[in-house]
Amino acid sequence: MEENDEEEKTKALFEGFPEPTKLVVGYALTSKKTKSFLQPKFQGLARLKGIKFVAIDLDKPLSEQGPFDIVLHKLIGKDWQQVLEDYRLTHPEVTVLDPPDAIKHLHNRQSMLQVVSDLNLSDTYGNVNVPQQLVIKKDASSIPLKVAKARLNLPLVAKPLIADGSAKSHELSLAYDQYSLQKLEPPLILQEFVNHGGVLFKVFIVGEAIKVVKRFSLPNVSKRQLSRTSGVYRFPRVSCAVASADDADLDPNIAELPPRPLLEKLARELRRRLGLQLFNLDMIREYGSQDNYYVIDINYFPGYGKMPEYEHIFTDFLLGLVKRNKYNNHLTTGR
Ligand SMILES: Nc1ncnc2c1ncn2[C@@H]1O[C@H](COP(=O)(O)OP(=O)(O)O)[C@@H](O)[C@H]1O
Ligand SMILES: [Mg+2]
Repeated sequence: MEENDEEEKTKALFEGFPEPTKLVVGYALTSKKTKSFLQPKFQGLARLKGIKFVAIDLDKPLSEQGPFDIVLHKLIGKDWQQVLEDYRLTHPEVTVLDPPDAIKHLHNRQSMLQVVSDLNLSDTYGNVNVPQQLVIKKDASSIPLKVAKARLNLPLVAKPLIADGSAKSHELSLAYDQYSLQKLEPPLILQEFVNHGGVLFKVFIVGEAIKVVKRFSLPNVSKRQLSRTSGVYRFPRVSCAVASADDADLDPNIAELPPRPLLEKLARELRRRLGLQLFNLDMIREYGSQDNYYVIDINYFPGYGKMPEYEHIFTDFLLGLVKRNKYNNHLTTGR
């Protein structure tokens, strides 16, 4: 009892005396994103550590706001990109997370996964690939022939080529036979469906920090099912479903997380090649294999509210950026 009182007192003391502001973070996020990211617990911890979040007013010039140490953003549109690019030139002392040019790679499902296939990661811990895929820019009637020529195996997942976060960009379907592929609407990507036991790994990356969570995903499609089914079926956003698979009673072969060293190597390389610090990956392990992994999706500034311990990870990350910046400035200016 007494100990609890003591704890309460210490807490109150801290709340009364947060550290002086060390760092001002301007943010430009949609209201939905703001709500899920800037949760009260996170804001509270940030305040204690001397981090202040300030909403950027999009109706006013960015240069007249702040001063900021860091700008966090996730908005789409050419105008905003230009504003940020100009701001980066005139305010080199501000860290813009992340550069708009680098984020652009993730707005197209082909360029998004190109870095993963270029990486060709294969070591003792496993192989990381992208499912076989084909880009269809136009002309739906040509799809069956193109798919046959590329020797893609059915079923195929059809995904809109543009991944800009709009509802339409998440309208995915599963095609069971070649003929029905003509019903699809290009531009899209056709990707081989990889059986993975109905569980997917969401790998969250914040700078050098990595956290993995399990989510329920699409169930395996058996050969028998495939031969008996035809048509194209839209499927809902399974990965968005609230149910986490972290505590579920799953087959250990399906539930085992990807090996840490593999994830570290993958994350480090992708960070470098994409030039991004804030993103997540959807990763699956081929059913029946121990070490064949596929990256199927990469998202910029994902829902960090669902990343375990994001409060500590994110605040430490922000503080670390500024330390590094001060050090770099000191090196260049000699002050
Ligand atoms: N190649 C694939 N093989 C098996 N399942 C897939 C494949 N591609 C996507 N899925 C399933 O569809 C879901 C959504 O696909 P994803 O590429 O992540 O699109 P979104 O941008 O809508 O998140 C995934 O979480 C996974 O359950
Ligand atoms: Mg996804």
